[in-house]
Amino acid sequence: MNPRLSLPLDIPRRELLTRAAEVIAEAWQSFDAARASEPDISAALRDLAQTGLHDSPMPALQALDQAKGYLDTSLSQARPRYFAFIGSSGLEVGVLADALASTFDVNLATTARSADLIEAQALRFAAELIDYPFGAGAFTSGGMVSNLTALMAAREFALPNSRNTGLNGRAAALYCSSEAHYSVRRAAEVLGIGANFVRSIEIDQHHRMDTKALTHAIEADLKANITPIAIVATAGTTLTGAVDSILSLSSIAKQFGIWLHIDGAYGLPGAAASSTKHLFAGLEHANSLSMDAHKWLYLPKACSLVLVKDKHALSRAFSHNESYMLHDQDQPLNPVDSTLEYSRPFRALKLWMALRVHGATQYREAIERNIGQAKLCAELVKAEPELELLLEPQLSTVPFRHVPKHLEQNETALNAHNLELVKKMQLDGRVYISSAVVDGKACLRPCFVNFRTSEDDVRVLIDVTKELAAKM
Ligand SMILES: Cc1ncc(COP(=O)(O)O)c(C=O)c1O
Repeated sequence: MNPRLSLPLDIPRRELLTRAAEVIAEAWQSFDAARASEPDISAALRDLAQTGLHDSPMPALQALDQAKGYLDTSLSQARPRYFAFIGSSGLEVGVLADALASTFDVNLATTARSADLIEAQALRFAAELIDYPFGAGAFTSGGMVSNLTALMAAREFALPNSRNTGLNGRAAALYCSSEAHYSVRRAAEVLGIGANFVRSIEIDQHHRMDTKALTHAIEADLKANITPIAIVATAGTTLTGAVDSILSLSSIAKQFGIWLHIDGAYGLPGAAASSTKHLFAGLEHANSLSMDAHKWLYLPKACSLVLVKDKHALSRAFSHNESYMLHDQDQPLNPVDSTLEYSRPFRALKLWMALRVHGATQYREAIERNIGQAKLCAELVKAEPELELLLEPQLSTVPFRHVPKHLEQNETALNAHNLELVKKMQLDGRVYISSAVVDGKACLRPCFVNFRTSEDDVRVLIDVTKELAAKM
């Protein structure tokens, strides 16, 4: 207890820290194996969440205990059988790095001395991992912000000075596959391009952007005096994990002189694995890319990267001079001159520590293991007469559905049946899965991006699916 502090603790710091470390260690242990079901939220916790602000202090250990109670009954993506959406898995060193970064509360808005060195090195590590010749980059809060950041640079490239003038009556467009993430649309909304000018290009049978349709769309826009801002290739779509043909898209980008951005928020770590590296051929031609370290690089949220090839591309879009953010001669650019955010936590530390502790080889193997789990899942699905694989996995996403004999001919009923099955699985709690609609078919859509998941967990997923489907 330190009487000099205006916000004193009621117990010695070390005591609180020791208990917090125990809570974390217990959580990590509980993530080693899946639990039988999700525990109910007690009436006491529900009641407590309804109370108003209290004036007097509460013992810190009691508050910690309450927080533990709420965390224990929250859905944690760190658990090995969390297969829904695209999870993150709270890698241990990432958690510790977060605690350290928060402790020192470094702010990367302006120069932060050593932290700047680590951020620069972590960006280099990430670029090396996927073999991208980057010129500049930044850590951001997620794929949404990374895409927006890159597309701001693209807008400035296509329409120089538009950051000052706005579109000024000019029409502009973005091109992406019809299964690109919504963040591309949101970026168009924010950048003044307008969501109606996102050309949603049809996909081929592998769910990749159709390159002929893309060329036609660009030609039509050019004819109509609409300025192409960027082609957004998705390297690992959220829905199916499809990787657009980067090489083909890069030659179209080159032919028309258009910026090529790769949204690899989910899938880009696949470029580090030998079995899927070929899918990312042409990566080096991209002007920019996004990659979420809080997805398939296993780190706790929030941690994403945007990398650009031209080292001035970000500063062209973001640099500015304010009387409270001066430039000095030694440091012509502040971090805020290269990214969207002002106050920015030291997110780089967790990627830096994770890559230091585990090294590139362990990382490549972990990604490869998830790819193997997706293949296993697909094989198990194919071996079951009542399960249908909707798409061979390109990365680590496996959309499949249950097709009972009596519903075989009725797509509407099949859709309702599969949506209901997912709900039942979520209630059951042994695995956590989300539903999706692929080619009009409602399905189960597991995504394997967790370093804790084992092949046994994949088998349990299929067993639980069969067991609960049989009871319907
Ligand atoms: C391909 C893709 N892009 C962008 C995003 C948005 O990422 P975030 O949720 O980190 O903002 C996602 C999220 O799943 C994604 O899958």
